Amino acid sequence: MTPLLAVNGIEVIYNHVILVLKGVSLTVPQGRIVALLGGNGAGKTTTLRAVSNLLAAERGAVTKGRIELRGERIEHLSPSAMVARGVVQVMEGRHCFAHLSIEENLLTGAYTRKDGKAAVAQTLEKVYAFFPGLKARRHALAAYTSGGEQQMCAIGRALMAHPTLVLLDEPSMGLAPQIVEEVFDIVRELNQREGTTFLLAEQNTHLALRYADDGYILENGRVVMEGSAASLRENEDVREFYLGMGRQADGGERRSFRDVKSYKRRKRWLA
Ligand SMILES: Nc1ncnc2c1ncn2[C@@H]1O[C@H](COP(=O)(O)OP(=O)(O)O)[C@@H](O)[C@H]1O
Ligand SMILES: [Mg+2]
Repeated sequence: MTPLLAVNGIEVIYNHVILVLKGVSLTVPQGRIVALLGGNGAGKTTTLRAVSNLLAAERGAVTKGRIELRGERIEHLSPSAMVARGVVQVMEGRHCFAHLSIEENLLTGAYTRKDGKAAVAQTLEKVYAFFPGLKARRHALAAYTSGGEQQMCAIGRALMAHPTLVLLDEPSMGLAPQIVEEVFDIVRELNQREGTTFLLAEQNTHLALRYADDGYILENGRVVMEGSAASLRENEDVREFYLGMGRQADGGERRSFRDVKSYKRRKRWLA
């Protein structure tokens, strides 16, 4: 069966010269939660941007490979054409409009819909059902809401577009552990009750593998490991480098050999 999303050997270059993705392939079947894992700078956000076609805004481009949504090539579509096809990205760092209320923020998510006010109002009620906290704060300016509320607002706004596939970038970033759990529980519920498919970029491997069905680990612009979430959780290398469960001679907190290398490289540049 044709998967919902198939990314096939893509290469991404920023500013015509900076090669960041070096042949990334991944598959997201309809109705699943797929985790895209890896440390800072591995290429997770770039992969999501390639799918949602937000690369151009960052002076980036897919220069090799193909991306297919239900078998249709989508690399050359505009971001709004992607939204119209049901692919919506929730950007890293919870981009809410600070000067708009929570409800106004949510309504901006419905801008590509053409099915009328009543249908939009219905979706709004559904979003509030998933996020009762947002309903309570519907008239508050986003600027005055908590980090957790802003993340939920950003996800809620994506849902207003009636998406099939949500690209969720680092939802846990900067949030307290309990709030993170709340956010992920809602993701699971949306997946189970609405059938929404998620491609989820996370540095927090442990967390993501608890909620995802499948996972891909990126290092330095390449997929270095992939499999079911259960098999990744059991994998020795994953346990050692990403789950912090392995024996480590120096007792340090490093996540991978590559982290160590790039850190040293950066240090050299700074020196
Ligand atoms: N707009 C950009 N221009 C140039 N390089 C970028 C840009 N965005 C990201 N990069 C580089 O691409 C690499 C991967 O970044 P990113 O996809 O953000 O990784 P991750 O989301 O896994 O932390 C990093 O080395 C980063 O510096
Ligand atoms: Mg990122």
